[in-house]
Amino acid sequence: MTIRFDYTCMMADVVGERCGIDPSELAALEERAAAIHRDLMARKEGGELPFYDLPFQDQVAGEVRRLADEVAERFDHLVVLGIGGSALGTQALFRALAPLYHNHLSREQRRGRPTLHVLDNVDPCGFGEALDLLAPDKTLFCVISKSGSTVETSGQFLVARQWLARAVGERWKEHVVVITDPEKGGLRAMANEQGIRSLSIPPGVGGRFSVLTPVGLFPLAVAGVDIEALLAGAAQMSARVTRPGLMDNPAYLNAALQYLAYQKGMRISVMMPYSDRLRDVADWFRQIWAESLGKKTALDGREVHVGPTPVKALGTTDQHSQVQLYIEGPFDKVITFLVVEDYGRDLRFERCVEAPHLDFLHGKSMAELIRAEQQATAVALVRAGRPNCSFILDRISAENLGGLLYLFEVQTLFAGGLFAIDPLDQPGVEAGKEYTYGLMERPGFAERKEEVEAWLSG
Ligand code: PA5
Repeated sequence: MTIRFDYTCMMADVVGERCGIDPSELAALEERAAAIHRDLMARKEGGELPFYDLPFQDQVAGEVRRLADEVAERFDHLVVLGIGGSALGTQALFRALAPLYHNHLSREQRRGRPTLHVLDNVDPCGFGEALDLLAPDKTLFCVISKSGSTVETSGQFLVARQWLARAVGERWKEHVVVITDPEKGGLRAMANEQGIRSLSIPPGVGGRFSVLTPVGLFPLAVAGVDIEALLAGAAQMSARVTRPGLMDNPAYLNAALQYLAYQKGMRISVMMPYSDRLRDVADWFRQIWAESLGKKTALDGREVHVGPTPVKALGTTDQHSQVQLYIEGPFDKVITFLVVEDYGRDLRFERCVEAPHLDFLHGKSMAELIRAEQQATAVALVRAGRPNCSFILDRISAENLGGLLYLFEVQTLFAGGLFAIDPLDQPGVEAGKEYTYGLMERPGFAERKEEVEAWLSG
């Protein structure tokens, strides 16, 4: 596994005083960083942060592998029903580690593995059209919900169950695997009572930190991703991101740089992979960064609202959409590039006599072009005084992806310490959930319904 963190272009001597970070500012954070580290390690040792131990759970990986291999033999399609942390990690890693067009390949080309569809919305068109493509007798649904009660996932399940039952009757239960809390919630109760196969999400691991639990491991293993390598990469990264020193720990260091940039007014945090495969890693990151750090808190008795706004962009595509804004717009952004050294494939540019204006490209390749474009964008940003940093992967592999996501998880926890908020909760999404329950007439939420109706009627 090789992942390097290059933060040269975050620093004031490169990017200028206005937005750049001075080494003294990092030094000034060291004492606080040491205290946050001590707190995290104490909570880790006390069993309060079990996500730290996920890479080392060989028994869970074995259980997931056995079930995944069994269902992969029997089914042609796996559909994940889930939302937020129950879907985004799987989507990100599936796109990164399976062939990009996995679902369009024949079963043989997929090395006998099923197609994988992560459905994380309740748009009847999106959901319905996905079902239209599938054969119920060859389809397995993986219903993922930590709480077991998320309304979107529940609605998806009801439609899917009906769709299955119409085709296979009572055997619909054989077409479902549930991933939820080991003891609590309606989904767990249903799985236990109905004898539906299930896997557990360890208590204490929140949705957006759960990609390395069965939440991500099971669907990815079914689709043929090397989950053992994913966990091995995370385990290797664990040694780096539990180091105490701010400057020795890439997760702490990037959290500190992002925090300092935020204090200087750079409130938008853009993640820009230069790789189609890594596109959805930026989507996964958007959730963990936003839901963990966007919080209301109190400072000296005053209510304050904190949290960088994460934005996803894709290189080179968004060079022709967003980069103008990043270079000449407000000084409110930090760009994090995800860079790949070896794409594992290359396409050369041959001379085209009919297009002499393209001769300069002759003998070069698409990988050279995309690398040049990333470097060019970084330099253009620097020249415009805009801070940016890069995570550089030697290649896209399960080890590197396991390591990268684990790093970002620790980075988020540490950033929570710097912003002095709890990165593990999400109280702000509760109100919307309750109004939805009210409108959908869930018992106990009648008042919420009245509130929304009063508001809607002006
Ligand atoms: O990170 C989180 O906790 C959330 O994004 C959840 O993953 C999301 O709300 C889905 O919750 P659940 O898994 O309980 O259905």
